[in-house]
Order: sequence, then C-alpha cells, then structure tokens
Amino acid sequence: MRVCVIGTGYVGLVTGVCLAHIGHHVICIDNNEEKVKLMKSGQSPIYEPGLSELMQSSAASGNLEFSTDLEAGVKHGEILFIAVGTPALPTGESDTRYVEAVARGIGAHLNGGYKVIVNKSTVPIGSGDWVRMIVLDGVAERQKNLVAAGGGISTLERIEAEFDVVSNPEFLREGSAVYDTFNPDRIVLGSNNPKAIEMMKELYAPLVERQFSEDPSLPPVPVVVTDLSSAEMIKYAANAFLATKISFINEVANICDRVGADVTQVAKGIGLDSRIGSKFLSAGIGWGGSCFPKDVSALVHTAEDYGYETELLNAAINVNKRQRTIAIEKLQQELKILKGKTVGLLGLTFKPDTDDMRDAPALTMIEQLNRLGAKVKAYDPIVSQSGLSHGLSGVIIESDPERLADGCDALVVVTEWQEFLRLDYGKMAKTMREPVLIDGRNFLDPAVVTAAGFRYLGIGR
Ligand code: UDX
Ligand code: UDX
Repeated sequence: MRVCVIGTGYVGLVTGVCLAHIGHHVICIDNNEEKVKLMKSGQSPIYEPGLSELMQSSAASGNLEFSTDLEAGVKHGEILFIAVGTPALPTGESDTRYVEAVARGIGAHLNGGYKVIVNKSTVPIGSGDWVRMIVLDGVAERQKNLVAAGGGISTLERIEAEFDVVSNPEFLREGSAVYDTFNPDRIVLGSNNPKAIEMMKELYAPLVERQFSEDPSLPPVPVVVTDLSSAEMIKYAANAFLATKISFINEVANICDRVGADVTQVAKGIGLDSRIGSKFLSAGIGWGGSCFPKDVSALVHTAEDYGYETELLNAAINVNKRQRTIAIEKLQQELKILKGKTVGLLGLTFKPDTDDMRDAPALTMIEQLNRLGAKVKAYDPIVSQSGLSHGLSGVIIESDPERLADGCDALVVVTEWQEFLRLDYGKMAKTMREPVLIDGRNFLDPAVVTAAGFRYLGIGR
C-alpha cells in the first residue's frame, strides 16, 4: 500500500521504516531539513537498535523515501500517519499544536481518492473528531484561495476530500521499538467507519499474521477494533496503568528498605501470580521518558476538565516524584554532607538502548545534586559518544566509566546499560575517595560489587 508518515521522531521513523520493510511504499515527511538530509544519506537521526539497518535496506529496495514536501507525501499516501510530537505543556495538558499544523497541511493538499488519516501521536481523548475538523478547515482554506485566484466561484473545481480518521495508538518502547513493531501484543484501531478499519487491517496483515515475528508459530496478533475515543483512551490507560504499577513497586521498595525485606525477591514472588505478571515490577529511581510523565499528566488533566479528581493517578505521580530523590537520600545517608563531594552517574538516558533524555530521572538528580553543592560527573554510552550532552548543564561528561570513578565520593547507577555489568569494579573502587555505590536500578549483583570493595545500596534491597 502507499503510505505517508508525517513526523520522523522516535515513533514516526520506526513506524515508517517497519512498514516499508514489510512491503509497503512509504514516504516519511519531516519539516526538519537537516533531519531529512541525514535520513536521505542513510543515517538515522535517533539511536534505536536495528533501525539503521532496516532503514538502509528499505531505502535500497525503493520502498522508503524521505522528504520535507508534505504535498508530495499527502498525494502519495492512501494512508497518512500523523506522528509528530505531543509534548506536555507546563499545565500538564498535551501540546497539540504540531498535530494541528499537520492536519491543516493535510487538508490543504488532499486530492481526489479516499484516504485514511491515522493519529499515531498520543492525543487527548476526542482528538479524532478534532483532527477531522482541522483537516476540513484546511480544505476550506484551499477552496477559498482557489476562488480568490480564479476570481469567482464558477472557476472553482470542487476539492474532493473523502477521508476518515483512525486512532491507532503506538505501544513501542524506546530501545526495543523495532522488536515491538514486529511482535505486538495487540493492534488497536479506533474509527467510526468500517471502510477505514478494513484498509488498516490490510496494512497490518503481515504483522497480524506474524510474518515478521520472532516466533511465526504464535497465533495471529489480536486486533482490537473500537470507536475513536476508546482507542485514544486505551493508549492513556495502558501507560497510566504501567506507570502506576512501577509506582506501586517503588512504594513497596521503600517499605522493604524500612523493614529489611528485598524488593527484587518480593517482585518475583508477586509477579509469578499470573493476575499480577512479572513485567514492569522493577523498583528504582522512578519512571521517565517521553511518554509516561506526559501521558499520565494528560489523563489527569482530561479528567479535571470533566470535574473528576484522579486520586490514584495523582498518587502514582507523587510517588514517582519522591522516588527521584531516593538516590540523593541514600547518598546523604552514606556521605552526610554533599557539599564539596563528587558524585558520578553511571548512565543518563531515561532507560537503556536509547539516546532520549526527555524527562530522564538523571535530570532531576543533577539539579538536586547541584543545589546541594555536589560536583556531578557522568558517563553514558550514548550521550558521551554522540556528544548529545548539549542541554545538560551542571554535569561533566566523562568518556569512560573508569575516568568517571576516579576521585568520586560515590557512584550512582542511573540507567541499566548492559555494559555496566562488565565493568572492572575492583579497579574503579580503588580510584575513588569513598567506594560507595547506589544502584538506582537494582541492576548489579550486590555480592560482586561488594567483593570488589564497594559499599552497595540498592533500592528496597
Ligand atoms: C511520538 C508521538 O507522536 C507522541 O504523541 C507520543 O506520545 C510519543 O511518540 P516522538 O516520536 O517521540 O512522539 O516525537 P519526536 O521525536 O519529537 O518527533 C517528532 C518529529 O516530527 C520530529 O522529527 C519533528 O521534526 C517532526 N515535525 C514536528 C514535523 O515534521 N512537523 C511538525 O509540524 C512538527
Ligand atoms: C512507554 C510504553 O511502555 C510504550 O508502550 C509506549 O507507549 C511509549 O512509552 P518507553 O517510555 O519507551 O515506553 O519505555 P518503558 O520501557 O515503558 O519505560 C518507561 C520508564 O519506566 C523508564 O524510565 C523505565 O526506566 C521505567 N521503568 C520501567 C521502571 O522504572 N521499572 C520498570 O519495571 C519498567
């Protein structure tokens, strides 16, 4: 099928590349010229395992193109994905101005032929109808301009604008977004028109039939067909549930710390109950990233608009806020006064296998340590390498973990990068002023690190 994906961020680019890989002809549009130039040269602007390889092979097969030309993209696509960012405003609401700009742009270029406009961006509930309205506004504007140019209504060619809006939320975890695309737990399609749903089913058929799945013998991927608002709500409810689950285990971890239990054992013990499930039960320094914080806040905000107070979600947010200070409390417990001390952060990104720093717990930690007068150094496999350190102030970026440890009063594991399992902790402990290690992700083996000479403190462990 002919597909156009507008917005080539973490979600749009992965979606476009994977759809091209399964055989569709995809044009990815972005208004950032630098980015488009880079992608045309075969390079991915983001770090996502497996993405570059697929990008190059799909481009070579002629199935994948990049452009800044929205008009060309709209003309090409039978299915048009809107995948621009929807960051949180300071009020907690989601900022939909980019979605609005794209929807208007689509309206301005719609030509004959039925099209499906897909909301891939996470948008407030009710946005499906709103996008439809904006697209129609775009069509109306173009019509008005045509009339003006032609000098009268008689010269006007009727603009055909036959389209439907579908909500098709993404459930892609950064760092495993390509894997998640080919191995989805479910595909959610929300629309009020069966014709649009049929086209979306055809688009996703190779994935539903597991043709690109790790285990092709699995039963087909469930396709959940709903109305527009329910699909939009599914996205928010899924992320809010997962964030709440993490806050729950973090709260349990804090109690474990006080009573002397080990939250990693507790998580295992409760996770084996199939009603609970073992995933998203890792206690640590809290959830961050481009989705959980903004989606939970947006849901709270939506509920407020309807006069409903979300007590459980508020609690999940508050637990998470407090959790981001847990490592600092533990540093204070070990080092007492932090003024004049040097703290080394192992990892900066909000999770491993991504270069994304959006709402990363590291940012809160750096700010607090700076405020308390500590010197902050950090090593991150991606942030150091790609020089993405811009936007990070108050932190010295070191080029390797051993240089990081040198002269530190404590190390904190902020992100659970695999390579941190293989460091020479014995060597690192010897170069530190105090061999204190706070494991903010309960990632390391306490016995190994303790044998290497560290005083080890986990979270609820
Ligand atoms: C996506 C979503 O769409 C968001 O709603 C969801 O919750 C998380 O994932 P993400 O892929 O993280 O957002 O966005 P981002 O990485 O910021 O990329 C957005 C892209 O859209 C950028 O490349 C930007 O240049 C492009 N863009 C933005 C346009 O092409 N046109 C615009 O008008 C605005
Ligand atoms: C999330 C959703 O999982 C995904 O479906 C999509 O909607 C985009 O948003 P992402 O933010 O990329 O994905 O990563 P995720 O793996 O969900 O982790 C989010 C945050 O929770 C990270 O900061 C991570 O460190 C934290 N986390 C996750 C925990 O603290 N404990 C856990 O057990 C799992």
